Amino acid sequence: MPPCSSELLDNPINRDKVRTIYLSRHGESENNLFGRIGGDADLSSRGEQYARALGYYINTLPQPCHKVITSRLHRTQQTAQYVQAQKEIRHEIDEINSGEHDNMTYEDIAANFPVEFALRDRDKLNYRYPKGESYMDVVKRLKPMMAELELEDNILIISHQATLRCMLTCLLEGNLAELPYLKIPLHTIIKLTISDAGVSMEYHRIPVECVDTFRPKPENCEISRNLAAACQTVPFHL
Ligand code: F6P
Repeated sequence: MPPCSSELLDNPINRDKVRTIYLSRHGESENNLFGRIGGDADLSSRGEQYARALGYYINTLPQPCHKVITSRLHRTQQTAQYVQAQKEIRHEIDEINSGEHDNMTYEDIAANFPVEFALRDRDKLNYRYPKGESYMDVVKRLKPMMAELELEDNILIISHQATLRCMLTCLLEGNLAELPYLKIPLHTIIKLTISDAGVSMEYHRIPVECVDTFRPKPENCEISRNLAAACQTVPFHL
């Protein structure tokens, strides 16, 4: 059983004063629409609508965020464009690097690299994409930035599905075994309130339609499984 995430952070989370951190994925991207992982695609038109709605939501808060942190990828910066706050770009919150499988669909990977695909399903936390990263690699690259967040209040972080799973698990001191399957839907703002009572989390779904990119763990993770079994839980896409 992997350790609890709190053992991975050098210091416990600072709860001395009540702090708020808003988290969001980027708006729906063209790659999300077509079921492709990774890449550096632009927002879809629905993703652009989400960016406008997110800007309105954050700018009209009683205490608007003073800073928005994005990754290096265009889709997060496009999502931040309507937020009136200081902008900061950090490589630490880039999406998991899917290496040689970047820009492929899950079905492409299952068909062309069936063994790799099954190995990932068997141990998604530790599986490292060829020439890419594992979830544990992402946790490691995030660690120094998590320490910096100790000083932050009222900021917005716009990042990606895998990266936000890692950040949330660290902040909530969640279980590493559950990390790779945490649900972080598109077009949803997550408000974290950190206080001496703990960390509370509220989900606020913005009503702009989008695809679901969540692929649950399939029943059959055997290397010998057929293509249909490997693709059993792939979410709908164009
Ligand atoms: O599908 C969107 C995405 O952000 C991909 O870019 C990324 O590879 C993937 O999610 C991570 O999710 P999972 O680890 O469940 O494949």
